[in-house]
Amino acid sequence: NSLAPCDIVVFGGTGDLAIRKLLPALYLRDRDGHLDDATRIVAVSRAGLDDAGYRDKIAAELRGFVPEDCHDTTSEERFLARLHHITIDIAGQDPWLELITRLSEAPDSVRVFYLACAPRLFGPVCQKLSEARLVNEQSRVVLEKPIGHDLASARAINDDVGAVFAEKQIFRIDHYLGKETVQNLLVLRFANALLEPLWNSGAIDHVQITASETVGTGSRAGYYDTSGALRDMVQNHLLQLLCLVAMEPPTRLDRDAVRDEKLKVLQALRPLEGPDVLRATVRGQYAPGLVDGEPVAGYLDELDGKPSNTETFVALKAEVGNWRWAGVPFYLRTGKRLERRASEVVVQFNPVAHSIFPGIADEFIAPNRLVIRLQPDEAIRLHLVTKEPGPGGVRLRQVPLNLSFAETFESRLPDAYERLLGDVVRGDPTLFMRRDEVEAAWQWTEPILAAWEQSGTRPKRYAAGTSGPTAATALIERDGRTWHEED
Ligand code: BG6
Repeated sequence: NSLAPCDIVVFGGTGDLAIRKLLPALYLRDRDGHLDDATRIVAVSRAGLDDAGYRDKIAAELRGFVPEDCHDTTSEERFLARLHHITIDIAGQDPWLELITRLSEAPDSVRVFYLACAPRLFGPVCQKLSEARLVNEQSRVVLEKPIGHDLASARAINDDVGAVFAEKQIFRIDHYLGKETVQNLLVLRFANALLEPLWNSGAIDHVQITASETVGTGSRAGYYDTSGALRDMVQNHLLQLLCLVAMEPPTRLDRDAVRDEKLKVLQALRPLEGPDVLRATVRGQYAPGLVDGEPVAGYLDELDGKPSNTETFVALKAEVGNWRWAGVPFYLRTGKRLERRASEVVVQFNPVAHSIFPGIADEFIAPNRLVIRLQPDEAIRLHLVTKEPGPGGVRLRQVPLNLSFAETFESRLPDAYERLLGDVVRGDPTLFMRRDEVEAAWQWTEPILAAWEQSGTRPKRYAAGTSGPTAATALIERDGRTWHEED
């Protein structure tokens, strides 16, 4: 697990992402002994800090974002000593002399340029890195989402970054792919012979993919209001999950084999356009309500009353137009300020063909469901129908076979960024999005945004702390199905 010596340069080094996710993940890798002694982390921002000032800042924050049982003074001191800060106004004209000097001290180290800054700066940063001659064969660039806000802007960013870095050096992060339970989707499907013969329209009735959050938009309201749930969650995380569920078996676990198969799924998504969009999608926006018993403001109140049609909730019905999945709907839903935090994939199998049990009609035999709980309480549950013990007639009950990660594995589940940052240093982009995937995902998403805009309708209001707009329930119930809800 040891990683080669590297310089990790974080643009946006005092930002939310660096502090909440990147530095804690690097600390944890360091604590596990994976960072080389020569590895340095160079934060770039406009903050006007020297190394000591930056170390103090991070020392004050780190423990808030690292699990309590991983706090340890020796590891923290070693980690803080790796940190450096360089003040740069990315949009300014100054040559990056200090960065050039710092990086020239370690010419053989792997160079990772992590762009945790606004996407409009991705192109300019790459251009500047190139002018400063900081990019070599051993360099990689990491792009945080969102990669653009539509297909054209995504292409423009990809062009600008591609003018400086080869595709194999570009790592577009979708942190969902680094989650242990998401990686496990590949293992569940392709290391068990049991499921694959059933993994198609012959045995599967429908699939649900849910990412439900209790948090609101918080300090990110400014960004979020230009984005909304479809761009923020569906275009990337939910479609990536759909790809992992729907793709054909790759011939091996490598960068191109896996990503080629995911791309085929994105290309097979039946386009949702025009009037179909209003039938197959629901968008919502949270109003004031109670979350975990606490009163919370509505989305518009958080914008100080500014009018906004930005959706904080989306539910939609997608279809993958190929032989395996013909006629099997994929229901996707995500939202903020909902009643529970849960991300899961639910695969519902077909009902039994015929009931042999006296007095029990076919429709009272609950179909099998495979529930893959991605977070929290990571688990895989296969809901089976069993006989309730008792001397009388046959009574049936659906009960889950339950594989709980916490009960099965003693080790801590690493955060997605711990895994993904390691892959960047190693130069393995399998769990990152390739240019064509990002663009195919935008191609499918864009007409939905356009149809919403043209319809002149507003997102449906839902009270914070509920399961979203009632129209989302109607969306699936219209097809005679129900959303999976369990704690
Ligand atoms: C991010 C979105 O990509 O994912 C956020 O921008 C969202 O709005 C977050 O809250 C959810 O990630 P996780 O790992 O908490 O499910």
